[in-house]
Amino acid sequence: MSTELNGEAKAATKNSDSAPKTNPIERPLALRSVREEHPPKAEEHTPQRILVLGATSGIAEACLRLWAARGDSLYLVARSEDRLNVVAADANVRGAALVETAVANLDDLEQHPELLAHAVNALGGLDIAFLALGVLGDQTDAERRVEAATQVLHTNFTAPVSLLTWLANYMSQRHTGTLAVLSSVAGDRGRRSNYVYGSSKAGLTTFVDGLRNRIDRDGVRVMTIKPGPVRTAMTENMKGNAKFADVNDVAAALVKAIDRGTDVVYVPGIWRIIMGVIRAIPESIFKKLNL
Ligand SMILES: NC(=O)c1ccc[n+]([C@@H]2O[C@H](COP(=O)([O-])OP(=O)(O)OC[C@H]3O[C@@H](n4cnc5c(N)ncnc54)[C@H](OP(=O)(O)O)[C@@H]3O)[C@@H](O)[C@H]2O)c1
Repeated sequence: MSTELNGEAKAATKNSDSAPKTNPIERPLALRSVREEHPPKAEEHTPQRILVLGATSGIAEACLRLWAARGDSLYLVARSEDRLNVVAADANVRGAALVETAVANLDDLEQHPELLAHAVNALGGLDIAFLALGVLGDQTDAERRVEAATQVLHTNFTAPVSLLTWLANYMSQRHTGTLAVLSSVAGDRGRRSNYVYGSSKAGLTTFVDGLRNRIDRDGVRVMTIKPGPVRTAMTENMKGNAKFADVNDVAAALVKAIDRGTDVVYVPGIWRIIMGVIRAIPESIFKKLNL
């Protein structure tokens, strides 16, 4: 693991737009509201310490733009150093309070404890861990070669299980924190066209759901996030991807949901209904469909 430390404190820019647009002295006293005399403070954001695993993911990058702009502290992990540096530089420019990076191939489970300990030390604690790593794989290849299938299962299931086990124990001992995990609607039902990827996400969904049921009572939020198709590098070669969800819309919804700590998030929300319908189709019919 090579680690590049990039910490830079940024002064938060203050917005003075909250000043009244008209001079209240020009208006009758009776029309001045209590709110004008004592204007409410702009809603204050408590800066969050956020660890992003798979920080060069399209979905993660779009979330990072929002977290950086509101002054959160970020620890970014990805395996492509060049692309990670671009993401980190962008977060710094947008106003992140702190940006640190580590280059790591997260398939290497042995590195996880040291990597995660380093991240929480650098951030001075941890409020949110966002797991965005994942591979789509090649379904046809995985049907022929078991190595191709197990590679998808390793990156999408085994590696997140290793990361989450360490993070869950860290957070539950401290009775605080949010684990936000990108699973997929593909895990809700096995389909002929992508059941290897789908099964890796089904396993991840079940693991994350069970983890929530274990540590929610310790004060840790555990979120299962199930995006429908989103336009990112992962889907750029898929047919019909122009109709997929916009990554910035998805990120805006996710950042809000992570602030709330919602248990299970479908994004866009319509996918909760779509998957409800897909799950309801009897297997005797489903197996004849070309899905
Ligand atoms: N886009 C969608 O339609 C969609 C829908 C449902 C769920 N998701 C899930 O959302 C997550 C983010 O996907 P995305 O759409 O943002 O796709 P993406 O842009 O392809 O992001 C996937 C990220 O995972 C990283 N990664 C893969 N293996 C890794 C490893 N061994 N070590 C470190 N990083 C690794 C990739 O790094 P490299 O670039 O270096 O390979 C990439 O940054 C994934 O878990 C995906 O399964 C996506």
